[in-house]
Amino acid sequence: MTQNLFATRASRMKASEIRELLKLLDQPGIISFAGGIPDPNLFPTEAFAQACQAALSAGPQALQYSVSEGYVPLREWLVQHMREIGVDCSVDNILITSGSQQALDYLGKLYLSPEDTALIGWPTYLGAINAFDAYEPRFDRLMLNGNRGAAEYSEAAGEGAVKFAYLSPDFANPTGETVDLRGREYLLNLADDLNIAVIEDGAYQALRYEGDAIPPVLALEQARKGSIEACRTIYCGSFSKTLSPGLRVGWVVAAKPIISQLVLVKQAADLHSPTLNQMAVEQVARAHFDTHIPLLRQTYGARRDAMLEALQQNMPDGVQWTHPQGGMFIWVTLPTGMNGADLLARALDTVKLAFVPGRAFFADGSGANTIRLSFSNSDEDTIREGIRRLGIVLRA
Ligand SMILES: Cc1ncc(COP(=O)(O)O)c(C=O)c1O
Repeated sequence: MTQNLFATRASRMKASEIRELLKLLDQPGIISFAGGIPDPNLFPTEAFAQACQAALSAGPQALQYSVSEGYVPLREWLVQHMREIGVDCSVDNILITSGSQQALDYLGKLYLSPEDTALIGWPTYLGAINAFDAYEPRFDRLMLNGNRGAAEYSEAAGEGAVKFAYLSPDFANPTGETVDLRGREYLLNLADDLNIAVIEDGAYQALRYEGDAIPPVLALEQARKGSIEACRTIYCGSFSKTLSPGLRVGWVVAAKPIISQLVLVKQAADLHSPTLNQMAVEQVARAHFDTHIPLLRQTYGARRDAMLEALQQNMPDGVQWTHPQGGMFIWVTLPTGMNGADLLARALDTVKLAFVPGRAFFADGSGANTIRLSFSNSDEDTIREGIRRLGIVLRA
């Protein structure tokens, strides 16, 4: 065996607690709030069948190699989509990636040398931590409440440099929380002071169930600086939560020099994302995105409401939870001293309920008394029953 030959980064790679967990969920009777995945019953399956057929019938292009930047008609649709959410860009500001996860990996590769610092929230999307971690950075805690200034971040960075701040400002995974306008403006000031990039993860941006949309960080920066070419924010989008995660189609929007460099990363990694998938997504997005999103908002919004109400009815004193305005998650904080991983073991064993212990989302290993609940993939009755079971196991 040759494990002793692995690079140093290999020792930092851990099996994802979430993926390991998902393997347990096939048992009969289990209610799972674990995976943060879309409800497959809501996929526009018929539209994709027709789109794939049409793409294949149009000629061999769908099965051929194509350009690394991505399928032009899809990028043209995205120019329009980005304009609708407040960002003014051109096709040349967009790179198609295989899911936004690939964009996070590429950005880690592009920005992080060993010992450089990535600023992330405590907690943060586990997939982002894992993507960045392979490039052997340090992580420091991004705080948007003014408690830490640029000088403190620079000082904490030690031998490396602070390179970027990563955040998911709308309905974050795992907390469901949204960064308000003030927080976004604060972040831009901090990024200017530190001269770092901002990686804005918009994975859940379209899934808002209440309140008014807040402009993306990239839109706010563009309003300040006039042009996307002057912006340090890199926006990562995804069709995974809206149309289909299995097709693995995401995108990056940024200033052209950043996109050009990411294209080189992509050429070295996988040449381009699958042509047929991009063609199918373009057709389905063009014909159905605007009618499909309201359906998702209505369905997931009702599930969120059901979970919030059930939590209100079933949680014992001392348990707190977030009130997400969108997305797929509610974040629960248990009384200090309780352990989410122990609770999961007990919940699986005694009431057949699954969720994700929160500690995995903290780069510093804290957060043991937290859990993440996903409401996207269960109907309202199942949600009410699952939260009833959570109440039972918490009281025990
Ligand atoms: C916050 C966030 N970003 C990015 C991703 C990656 O999604 P994808 O690669 O499917 O676009 C996820 C998936 O769960 C996520 O929750």
